[in-house]
Amino acid sequence: MTERFRTIIEPFRIHSVEPLRMTTADERRRKIRDAGYNLFALRAEDVLIDLLTDSGTGAMSRDQWAAIQHGDESYAGSPSWFRFLEAVRELFPFRHVIPTHQGRAAERILFSVIAGPGKVIPNNTHFDTTRANIEFTGGEAVDLVIPEGREPRTLHPFKGNMDLDALGALLARRAADVPAVFVTVTNNSGGQPVSMANIRGVRALCDRHRVPLFLDACRFAENAWFIRLREPGYADKPVADIVREMASYADGMTMSAKKDPLANIGGWLAMNDDALAEKCRNLLILTEGFPTYGGLAGRDLEAIAQGLKEAVDPDYLRYRIRSTEYLAEALDRAGVPIVKPAGGHAVYVDARELLPHVPPLSYPGQSLAVALYETGGIRSVEIGTVMFGRHADGTEAPAALDLVRLAIPRRTYTQSHIDYVIEAVTAVAARASELCGYRIVDEPPQLRHFTARFEPLTAA
Ligand code: F0G
Repeated sequence: MTERFRTIIEPFRIHSVEPLRMTTADERRRKIRDAGYNLFALRAEDVLIDLLTDSGTGAMSRDQWAAIQHGDESYAGSPSWFRFLEAVRELFPFRHVIPTHQGRAAERILFSVIAGPGKVIPNNTHFDTTRANIEFTGGEAVDLVIPEGREPRTLHPFKGNMDLDALGALLARRAADVPAVFVTVTNNSGGQPVSMANIRGVRALCDRHRVPLFLDACRFAENAWFIRLREPGYADKPVADIVREMASYADGMTMSAKKDPLANIGGWLAMNDDALAEKCRNLLILTEGFPTYGGLAGRDLEAIAQGLKEAVDPDYLRYRIRSTEYLAEALDRAGVPIVKPAGGHAVYVDARELLPHVPPLSYPGQSLAVALYETGGIRSVEIGTVMFGRHADGTEAPAALDLVRLAIPRRTYTQSHIDYVIEAVTAVAARASELCGYRIVDEPPQLRHFTARFEPLTAA
């Protein structure tokens, strides 16, 4: 009989290392002050554990680096393109695959063709670039996640699910204005999965109203793993089969290869509709490149092709999902309020709950994120009123939630790095009542979280 062990280990060992630069708390207080209390303005070398994003920040494998040596840089028809195409089609068998330099380029091309004034695009939750690319065309982006998806502490196995009643109602009123319904897997407002039954339900509504369904599939492998863990009937299915079933309900997809495809750059747009593909390819040539490289080097196409094979490995996904859950469980045990259950790629701390003395318009999420940097050198990102509070008409209002996202780069940090994060977050949470709010002293007209400068509202 084989022994069963409780510990789920990293299914890899370290092959090449990058040094982390240690800094003192005094140094970090100076650095963040000089950065206008905006974590995006820090130099990465001044960050100890970088949990800003899981996008393009992961470690590539030996086999990906080896594949890069096979990169063929022919302008047209490179063998690297055909290896990429085959790896994409293996999981997402769409007729047309259009490579792009990252996910938002795929979004910009698609929405330039299908969105525009008067159009409305529903999604469980639009990622900020998806929303911005729709709104840039004059179209409207609507979020229709289930109500549980908006409640940090409500447990639900598939908190990323689309609210099918709300989608049905929208389509009944405005199907003619809906060029596509989107489902984001996993939902990036929490890394929460969408069930296969829900995707099937969305498909049925799309069929009834003759509207195409697109997946924003950046974190498809993590979503497939959650389906395998939580949805009846999938426990023994190969991950690749689950991914193919998800894809089978869709007419197309957008992708950022910087997430689950385990690459540092890349993306694609795929669809079955020939006429739509032709329009998208024409735009691609205008801004991204020829359709067999789309803004990527041959070596990038190789890294993605190999990454796609590794992303559906059950040992990798078991470790990936467990390591995020490990951080969430420890913070929960320590009494730190987090979004539950843990997402696939990130843990979200509820800053509004942790800092009740800091009103939303004094940015509790920013306050917590700055304190995590000053205390532990940890870089996180505010997802709250700084990010979403300023509206197009110039008014400001509290966002629905004030969260701080701790995103976990893939295969990059070890368990002791995460133990350090747990210790630092717990220490900051213990003195949360001492943290002050912030005010914005300078902000751009859009996407202010990237470049705004802040000042602490220290007690008078
Ligand atoms: N869709 C989702 C769900 C995303 O999370 C992202 C990026 C994109 C599209 C855009 O892809 O960055 O390649 O252009 N999310 C990153 C993040 C940036 O930090 O969550 P991209």
